[in-house]
Formats: sequence, C-alpha cells, structure tokens
Amino acid sequence: MLTTNFKDVFFLLSIIFILSLNVHSKAHSFKPEPRGGHMATLVNDRIYFFGGSRRIPMTSPSWNQTHQFNLSDEVFYLDLSSQFTVDLPPLTDLSSTSRMPFGSERGVTVLGNGGVRIFLIGGVQQDMKTFGYNATNSSFWTYNINSQRWNDSMPGTYGLPLPRRRSTATIIDKNEIIYIFGGRVQIDTGSDVFTLFDDFFTFDTLLLKWTNLSLPNHPSKRSHATATLMPDGKIIYIGGVTQSTPGEVANRLSMNEFALGNNIDPRVGHTAVLAPNNYTIVILGGTQSYGLAQATSHPVFLLLEVKSEPFQYSSPQPSGIVPPPLAYHTATLYQNYMIVAFGNITNDSEPSTNTSANIYLMNLSNYTWVTQFGMTTTTPVPNASDNTKLVVIIIPIFGGLVIIAIVGIIVWRFRRRPWYSSKLESMSNKQYNSGLPPGIHPDPPK
Ligand SMILES: *[C@@H]1O[C@H](CO)[C@@H](O)[C@H](O)[C@H]1NC(C)=O
Ligand SMILES: *[C@@H]1O[C@H](CO)[C@@H](O)[C@H](O)[C@H]1NC(C)=O
Ligand SMILES: *[C@@H]1O[C@H](CO)[C@@H](O)[C@H](O)[C@H]1NC(C)=O
Ligand SMILES: *[C@@H]1O[C@H](CO)[C@@H](O)[C@H](O)[C@H]1NC(C)=O
Ligand SMILES: *[C@@H]1O[C@H](CO)[C@@H](O)[C@H](O)[C@H]1NC(C)=O
Ligand SMILES: *[C@@H]1O[C@H](CO)[C@@H](O)[C@H](O)[C@H]1NC(C)=O
Ligand SMILES: *[C@@H]1O[C@H](CO)[C@@H](O)[C@H](O)[C@H]1NC(C)=O
Ligand SMILES: *[C@@H]1O[C@H](CO)[C@@H](O)[C@H](O)[C@H]1NC(C)=O
Ligand SMILES: *[C@@H]1O[C@H](CO)[C@@H](O)[C@H](O)[C@H]1NC(C)=O
Ligand SMILES: *[C@@H]1O[C@H](CO)[C@@H](O)[C@H](O)[C@H]1NC(C)=O
Ligand SMILES: *[C@@H]1O[C@H](CO)[C@@H](O)[C@H](O)[C@H]1NC(C)=O
Ligand SMILES: *[C@@H]1O[C@H](CO)[C@@H](O)[C@H](O)[C@H]1NC(C)=O
Repeated sequence: MLTTNFKDVFFLLSIIFILSLNVHSKAHSFKPEPRGGHMATLVNDRIYFFGGSRRIPMTSPSWNQTHQFNLSDEVFYLDLSSQFTVDLPPLTDLSSTSRMPFGSERGVTVLGNGGVRIFLIGGVQQDMKTFGYNATNSSFWTYNINSQRWNDSMPGTYGLPLPRRRSTATIIDKNEIIYIFGGRVQIDTGSDVFTLFDDFFTFDTLLLKWTNLSLPNHPSKRSHATATLMPDGKIIYIGGVTQSTPGEVANRLSMNEFALGNNIDPRVGHTAVLAPNNYTIVILGGTQSYGLAQATSHPVFLLLEVKSEPFQYSSPQPSGIVPPPLAYHTATLYQNYMIVAFGNITNDSEPSTNTSANIYLMNLSNYTWVTQFGMTTTTPVPNASDNTKLVVIIIPIFGGLVIIAIVGIIVWRFRRRPWYSSKLESMSNKQYNSGLPPGIHPDPPK
C-alpha cells in the first residue's frame, strides 16, 4: 500500500524531471540547417548568427544548375550564459521578430553604437521570393538588439555611404569606429563586371559619419582578407585574393607578404582571432579556390605570432576531436574559447559537397578542441529569471512531496490507517496539475 504510494511519488518526480527537461529542450530546440558564409557577432553572453548559404538538396524540385544554394534570412543566437556540450548547443531562433529583409551571406557584422546595434556591412542581398540580387539599395543595415528590428538608415547619418560590396575586411575598434577595407562586386552583388576594391572606409557608429579615408599607401586590391585588431590599434589583414584589372580573374595572395613561415597555403574563407595573450593570431581553415572546387588550405590550423616583426607562423597540431576542415565558418573569441560555427567542409581532392551545422570549441590556453562549454571555469551567473522560476516551482513540489512522504511513513507506522493513501494521491495530483506553467525555460540539470 505504502510502497505503491512511494512508487507514485517517484513516478511523479520523474515526470517532473522529464517535464523540465522537455521544457528546456523546447527552449533551445532550434537546430539550424548546415550553412557557410553566415555572419556572427558576440553581444555579452550571446553570439548572434545571421544568414548564410544553405545547400538545396539535389532531390528538391527547386534545385537546378544555377540555383544550388538557398540563402538564409534567419537570425538566431547561441547562449553562453550556462554550460553546454557541443552536441546540444543552446540555440534560440529570433527569426519571427528579427528576420533579415533579404537572404544574406558574405557580409560582416559588428557590434557598435554603445552596444545597442549590430551593423551589417555589405554582403549578398537576395530577394527570398524572386531570388533576384540587389534586394535593397543599402549596403549598410542595422539590427537593434533591444527592438530586434532591422533598419537601413540611422537618422543623422552623413557622408558618402559605403558603395555596395561583399567579402570586405572589417573590424570595429574601441572608439566604436568601423574600418572597412577592400571587398568585391560580381553577379551576386548586381555587377556584370567582377571588381575588387582597395578603398578604405570608416563609419563612426557614435557620430554616424561615413569617411573615405583615401590612404596613400594602402595595400593592393583584395577581397576575403581577414582583419584582426590589435590592442595598440594596428589592424592585421591576412589572406584573400587580389586583381590587377576589373573583369580579370582574382589571384591568390601570398600568406608571406609580411610574415615568415614555410608552405603556408593561400586562403579565402578562413578566420583569424586574436588569442587572449594579445600576440597570437589564431587562423583557422579556408579554401584555396572558389565555387565547386574548394580545396583545403594547409595547414588548417595556423598561429601567427605578432609580438615582434617579422611576424612568424607556426602550425602546432591541436589536440582533442579536431573538426573537419572548414571554410566560410565563423570564429568568435569568448573568454579562453574560440567558438567556431558551421561552414563549408573542404576537401583535399574532391569538390566541397558537405556543409557543417555544428559548433566547435577550442580551448585557446592549450589549443585543444573540447566538447564542453563552461565546465571548468567559474560558474557563470545564470539567467536570473529562468532559474528563479525553476527553483520556486520545483522546491515546493519536491518539498511538498518529501514532507507528505515523511508524514506518510509516520502516519503509517503509528496508525496504519487506510485513508492516507487516497489523500496522498489526490494531493499529489493537485500539485502535479498545477506544475510548471507554460513558458518556463529552466536551465538543464548541471
Ligand atoms: C560552399 O561551397 C559551395 C561549393 O560546394 C559553394 O558554391 C558555396 O558558395 C560555398 N559557400 C560559401 C559561403 O562560399
Ligand atoms: C533555377 O531556379 C531558379 C529559381 O527557381 C529560377 O529562377 C531559374 O530560372 C532556374 N534556372 C534554370 C536554368 O532552370
Ligand atoms: C529556402 O529555405 C526556406 C527556409 O527553410 C524554405 O522555406 C524555402 O522553401 C527554401 N527555398 C528553396 C528554394 O529551397
Ligand atoms: C534602387 O534604386 C534604383 C534607382 O534609384 C531604383 O530604381 C530601385 O527601385 C531601387 N531598388 C530598391 C529595392 O529599392
Ligand atoms: C527605419 O527607421 C525609420 C525611423 O527612424 C523608419 O521611418 C523606417 O521605416 C525604418 N526602416 C525600415 C526599413 O524599417
Ligand atoms: C546593384 O547595385 C549596384 C550598386 O548599387 C548597381 O551599380 C547595380 O546596377 C545594381 N544592379 C542591379 C542588377 O540592380
Ligand atoms: C575613395 O577614395 C579613393 C581615393 O581618393 C578613390 O579612389 C575612391 O574612388 C573613393 N571611393 C569612393 C567609393 O568614392
Ligand atoms: C589584451 O588587451 C586587452 C585590451 O585590448 C586588455 O584588456 C587585456 O588585459 C590584454 N591581455 C593581456 C594578457 O595582456
Ligand atoms: C573528401 O572526399 C573523399 C572522397 O569523397 C572522402 O572520402 C573524404 O572523407 C572527404 N574528406 C572530408 C574531410 O570530407
Ligand atoms: C557531412 O559533415 C557532417 C559533419 O562533419 C558529417 O557528420 C556527415 O557525415 C557528412 N556527410 C557527408 C555526406 O559527408
Ligand atoms: C583550458 O586549458 C587549460 C590548460 O590545460 C586549463 O587550465 C583550463 O581549465 C581549460 N579551460 C577549459 C574551459 O577547459
Ligand atoms: C588541455 O586542457 C584540457 C582541459 O583542461 C585537457 O583535457 C587537455 O588534456 C589539455 N591538452 C593538452 C594538450 O595539454
């Protein structure tokens, strides 16, 4: 009799447990499709992801020779405020409020304007219905993090805005000025003539001012270079391709323009982040060619020491579970982690036919690929509203049941009266029915 009651109690406990797990996975149920060419920006404890290019399955009726990719207009974020493992990254889709006004890839996003807005600089803008390019006339869009809305203008902006382009080398500095170098236009940016640029634009996100810097001794025309900002204000540009005349094919840029190192393949679609030590740039992935034949650039994992000139490459072998070779992924520094997301999977011998939907984590302290986020660092402050709710709801239920069970034992041992059984059941049912209200997103059990 009492055994039955205890069974019920444990059944109830497990239901509550499963329920809370379900609620949790529902909160983070977003599983993005594989993609490359997306954009990523860190905002406090979130990495916001934008757009990207998704492969259309050959079996799909919309697949044809000229239409093999479906650009994404999605916006979603990775939550870094609590622990997770890479097979269950806590991703939340914001597209219902934040959908981009076009399918977007190969732009750059940066956080500025006092941390209120993410700026999208250039990139392909494809109309999601007609598939036409040049979906808007602005190469510059802002995303307001609070209102979760896009806008192509900021009242008060002055100066000649950046002309349309993509694949620029772009960073924002601590004065919240965006530095945009190079880039290209071609068919997917509405231009019949393939053209690379060497002009250098800045946008001051506080003064809202565009400037064409017209620097005299700028580097050659290039697209697909990465830009890394150093604490002393230097920007280091790595890789990419150049062109002598508009319309000509692009030539791969040597990785040894100003750095020493042997057998470093040229590359596009790579990433470069400055390690927390402030003098090692961590370069990952990239491909040597475009289009269908995307050969892997070697070494895939590359360090550039920039403490003193000449800069020096090294290519230690990272440990841990090494991701496939990627291009057009993103890499975001957070604490000691390099957080890598998605990307085309390149191949040494074959055209790239696969794209990743995964998140990869590197511990930059010892260049190890890890699968768990936040497990060994000090516990991050959890999202207060979520956790408090969970505690408030679970404690009374568990507490109530434990008290009932204890009282039950006492009552049973001393009185052995049959009324108790039905009482416990009805009380438990009441508690259970008034369980977790909808919309609660508790954190996973640690
Ligand atoms: C990913 O690879 C395919 C070739 O398989 C290419 O067409 C596509 O443009 C690549 N994505 C990006 C962002 O370059
Ligand atoms: C391929 O599909 C796109 C989108 O449906 C369409 O606009 C285009 O005309 C198609 N091209 C060919 C060659 O069928
Ligand atoms: C592109 O992706 C969206 C979202 O998944 C889907 O609704 C649409 O049908 C896709 N278009 C093509 C041409 O595959
Ligand atoms: C872009 O500007 C051109 C010329 O002013 C205009 O014809 C076109 O409609 C505009 N396109 C959009 C999407 O607003
Ligand atoms: C941008 O914001 C202005 C108000 O500042 C508004 O009038 C305009 O419609 C917005 N544009 C878009 C594309 O939402
Ligand atoms: C796309 O935009 C560029 C720059 O604004 C313009 O020069 C070009 O004519 C446009 N192309 C199309 C097809 O509308
Ligand atoms: C920016 O300035 C440079 C140097 O004066 C010039 O060559 C280039 O055309 C300018 N870019 C634009 C878009 O006006
Ligand atoms: C790296 O530079 C940043 C400023 O950009 C500074 O806050 C940080 O302390 C520096 N780290 C080291 C290890 O010197
Ligand atoms: C490269 O392609 C070959 C042949 O299709 C395949 O066996 C191999 O797994 C691919 N490598 C990667 C890294 O995807
Ligand atoms: C594509 O890449 C993913 C992630 O690495 C892998 O799990 C999957 O097996 C690959 N698919 C093919 C067809 O190679
Ligand atoms: C990263 O590696 C260092 C060195 O082994 C270790 O002390 C640290 O705890 C690791 N951090 C994480 C988050 O795994
Ligand atoms: C790096 O640190 C991680 C986490 O502390 C550890 O598991 C791993 O063995 C370390 N790797 C190396 C190469 O020291």
